[in-house]
Amino acid sequence: MDSSEVKAETFELVLHKGFNLIRGIHDPDEVDQICNLEIRDTDVFVVTYPKSGTIWMQQILLLLEVKGDLTVFKHNSNAELLPWIEVQDHRVKYITAPSPRLRVTHLLHQFMPFALSQKKGKVIYVARNPKDALVSYYHFHKVANMLETPKDFDDFFEKFLRGDVYGGSWFEHIKTWYSHKNDMNILFITYEEMIKDLKSAVEKVSLFLGKELTDEQLASVVKHSTFNNMKKIPQASYEQVSSDLLNHNQGTFMRKGTIGDWKNYFTLSQCERFDMIFHREMKDFPLSFTWDSSAVA
Ligand code: A3P
Repeated sequence: MDSSEVKAETFELVLHKGFNLIRGIHDPDEVDQICNLEIRDTDVFVVTYPKSGTIWMQQILLLLEVKGDLTVFKHNSNAELLPWIEVQDHRVKYITAPSPRLRVTHLLHQFMPFALSQKKGKVIYVARNPKDALVSYYHFHKVANMLETPKDFDDFFEKFLRGDVYGGSWFEHIKTWYSHKNDMNILFITYEEMIKDLKSAVEKVSLFLGKELTDEQLASVVKHSTFNNMKKIPQASYEQVSSDLLNHNQGTFMRKGTIGDWKNYFTLSQCERFDMIFHREMKDFPLSFTWDSSAVA
């Protein structure tokens, strides 16, 4: 059986309670049990819309945990050390995992443990401007065997706007999480501010988590989480993920790591349409986004 047959037969988006899950990766019944998980004060969830810097924040949190000493998790991949809570069988492992339990998720707020809304545990929401997230996601659909290979960019553009992808609507994702900000211990941080000043971003995360690192240790966290250095660390760059899940010949998680790549893909009319929808959806939203790398130079 070739890999395209595996993909076609195994993976498929399934709409579950208004949110697309991936058959073969997620079990809807298990996802429904996540809200009942007990939360410890030391638990941390990294929440992202796909392609917004999830594996980047994964690397930063893991490095903060070991005070910048990369050698500590030499043999384990970041995906094992800081897994997705919604992936099949991960919820059960979470229950008995030792503290601190660090997890990532793309789920909407409605699926997450109720206890987070009683200010237990911590949440870090990483947001990226949606035009760059769209372009990154377009490429990732070619790499990820669990996601349908896009017909072309225009087709994917429409799918993204309809929320017809894993993660659903970018607009709904960020707005619903933000609407719960006062119930939770939550830090909002943007991909673009991490690009602009990684040191300050790492310090912000460290402070939020109550970590105490020396300047030297913080510098080591920063050093090992830059794009170029992360790319060289197979445990962090997802190079080691099984070829059943990722088609490494088609690309990589660590693709460009920049702001403004959307300009190389969006036509003028796509840009106008996107801006109109963005304005309509986000007009009352208080956080602003950086769309252009010149704005962070
Ligand atoms: P691009 O495809 O635009 O390059 P996620 O982890 O949520 O899937 O996001 C992946 C995106 O984050 C990719 O964007 C990837 O290159 C970028 N990324 C990962 N680590 C990064 C880093 N250290 N610095 C900058 N961008 C990074």
